[in-house]
Amino acid sequence: MTVSATGCETSGFTVDRAGDYAHAQLANPMSACMLCGGTGLVRTTVTDNGRTYDTVTSCARARLGRRSEAFNAAHLPAVHAASTFENWRPGNAEQARAHGLVKDFALRWPQGRPFIVSGPVGTGKTHLLVAALRHLTLELGVRAGYVEISLLYAQIRRGFQDGKSGGEIIGPLSQLDVLAIDELGKGRGSVFELETLDELIARRYNANKVTLFATNYSVRAPEDRAQRGLIDTAELVAAGKESKLLVDRVGDRIYSRLCEMCEFVEFPSNTPDARRSPNLRARR
Ligand SMILES: Nc1ncnc2c1ncn2[C@@H]1O[C@H](COP(=O)(O)OP(=O)(O)OP(=O)(O)O)[C@@H](O)[C@H]1O
Ligand SMILES: [Mg+2]
Ligand SMILES: [Zn+2]
Repeated sequence: MTVSATGCETSGFTVDRAGDYAHAQLANPMSACMLCGGTGLVRTTVTDNGRTYDTVTSCARARLGRRSEAFNAAHLPAVHAASTFENWRPGNAEQARAHGLVKDFALRWPQGRPFIVSGPVGTGKTHLLVAALRHLTLELGVRAGYVEISLLYAQIRRGFQDGKSGGEIIGPLSQLDVLAIDELGKGRGSVFELETLDELIARRYNANKVTLFATNYSVRAPEDRAQRGLIDTAELVAAGKESKLLVDRVGDRIYSRLCEMCEFVEFPSNTPDARRSPNLRARR
């Protein structure tokens, strides 16, 4: 089957900050589209088995518009509006591996392997998450989302005051094709937080949805864990408060699922904080 298109949309998007979030819009507005006059629909002729049909398809600019809507719906942090794969530079071997892995994940969607990036403050973890979601939404229109975990806990707590259950907020996040959970392990480590995280990750795991993570905690396996024999949530809360290990912050149930869902990357502890060194930061 061949489709003879009536034109080709070559223009792209502009991405800016709008309040808390990065915001994409069409470089050329829909209303000014010469192909569809703003309706989003164009007439095309389709030839199939020697017969020609007049048919209506969506305009290329309208498709671009849907991709920019996917980007905006992902709620990427405004401060990362310009974060891409191109302006992220690795400073050591593990960062180079991370860059390759995350880019591979995005470019090979949906075949690529999801990941969790662990590392010290200011080492470009959020930048990489955003670069991946930017590609998936703007290039492919994938339904994606970004949450910083402690802000999600706060949002759920506020929801309780308005009579909303945690499930009402977690439900839509469970449905997204890709969700990036940033700052995993952060928070007070309360029973409420652990149960919320457990529900979110378990729902996504059970639905076989792709989840990406970034964390300041080490993703190393806890060799001495068996001896300590921590099992219930109260013990975990007590142990997790001091620990630098992610498993102590999120518990065995979640850690076990992460092992299956994700490739682990951990930047060395001496990776410099790019916020403190302007020459390491991405050029915008
Ligand atoms: N390797 C890098 N190449 C280019 N820019 C970088 C790199 N690492 C960090 N940056 C820039 O430094 C700033 C901080 O990066 P980012 O927010 O991604 O750090 P982070 O690892 O998520 O830190 P935190 O642990 O505090 O959340 C951003 O402006 C980001 O673009
Ligand atoms: Mg971050
Ligand atoms: Zn159009």
